[in-house]
Amino acid sequence: MHTTVRGFKDILPPDSYKMSFVENVAKEVFERFNYKEIRIPTVEYYDLFIKTTGETTDIVEKEMYKFEDQSKRVLALRPEGTPGVARTYINNKLNLKGENTKYFYIGNMFRAERPQAGRYREFEQIGAECIGVSSPYADAEVIIMLDMILKKIGIRSYSIEINSLGCNECRKKYREILINYLKNLYLCDICKTRLERNPLRVIDCKTDRDKFKDVPSIELCNDCRKHYETLKNVLTQSNISFNENPLLVRGLDYYTKTVFEIWSGSNEGKKNSLGGGGRYDNLIEMIGGEKTPAIGFGLGMDRLVIEMKKVNAKLYKEPKPRVFLAQLGELAKKKSLKIFSELEKNGILVAESFGRGSLKSQMRIADKLGVEITLIIGQKEALDGTIIVRDMMSGTQEIVTWEKLVSLVKKMLKAPIVIKK
Ligand code: HAM
Repeated sequence: MHTTVRGFKDILPPDSYKMSFVENVAKEVFERFNYKEIRIPTVEYYDLFIKTTGETTDIVEKEMYKFEDQSKRVLALRPEGTPGVARTYINNKLNLKGENTKYFYIGNMFRAERPQAGRYREFEQIGAECIGVSSPYADAEVIIMLDMILKKIGIRSYSIEINSLGCNECRKKYREILINYLKNLYLCDICKTRLERNPLRVIDCKTDRDKFKDVPSIELCNDCRKHYETLKNVLTQSNISFNENPLLVRGLDYYTKTVFEIWSGSNEGKKNSLGGGGRYDNLIEMIGGEKTPAIGFGLGMDRLVIEMKKVNAKLYKEPKPRVFLAQLGELAKKKSLKIFSELEKNGILVAESFGRGSLKSQMRIADKLGVEITLIIGQKEALDGTIIVRDMMSGTQEIVTWEKLVSLVKKMLKAPIVIKK
């Protein structure tokens, strides 16, 4: 027997429908804010992530699916979408196209993390990237979109954590202050190696977070402070509640100024990040583009589905077939495919079970599905162009020609339900 690979999973109904529902809601919201869909490759050059996500991040250091292809190119399965979007922005000169440069994407990402509930090695992300706008209103817009998506899928209990990591200048000064403070703490082995190279990463260490509670906050320059204040004002005016969190640094290296994370509220104090993002004003320049401000977020769809289950959000619609098509014998099977597509064409959702032989087992499935009508086609009907139409509520049935089938089914589905005696 074959199993799925550790950390990889099948997504079965009804979760698959919850996911599609989340996708559709997100697409609706993106449309409202004029974000356009973009699709980027699953595989990129490994080097892209070193330069963007960051060499000293957990993602690049420990979690990348890195491999060599047949031509010895060093590649990686994407652990996130932002670097790919930045790359395509430069490659395709999207800044020159005269269109808006606000994009969204929905796709699978790969991180070889230690699997546990809500943490997988392949997971689905909804991402949004607003490229070319430095105004704090763009920061507010992405947070408002996030908030809207969460509310529309029925999730109410979460906190929006925000912080500002300042610009290069703010961070240069902060770096020294941080190193001086952190070197007096007891650090894990990885943090010891990161202290000089990237002290911000140390604050993001997952072990014994209590020791960081008195870490000095970053002092922002005038410009960064104004940016952060405007963002907070706009969010307040838009009735978005948020929590200022000076320890929020995020696990990726490219952020400047605003960072934010959505923490699930139904997790009894344990932080579970449903999504996160921030501004990355240096990233495009870092990989060879012009200096271009940008901001975006990533939402973890698998975690949203878990959250929807916890709060019993019932907003998603699982398509429910109202008609079952049973067939007996080879010829009937062949003919029923034609009938099946004819009904589908007319917007009638039909279930069938081509794998099952006996009428009894097919009727059992029809019962289980709770359909209103079962259509039965056997050898005789297949030969003379008819079909048996059974009303599952009243138990009555009649034989009609294929030509009359669609209009009869439509009429019956509209008819009031007869209570079975
Ligand atoms: P991230 O915080 O690394 O940000 O990921 C965003 C979301 O993806 C997380 O909050 C979480 O819900 C989900 N996620 C991450 N890892 C896993 C996992 N192993 N299993 C299940 N879900 C997971 C980014 O990826 C950035 N690209 C966001 C961004 C866009 N920043 C600017 N623009």
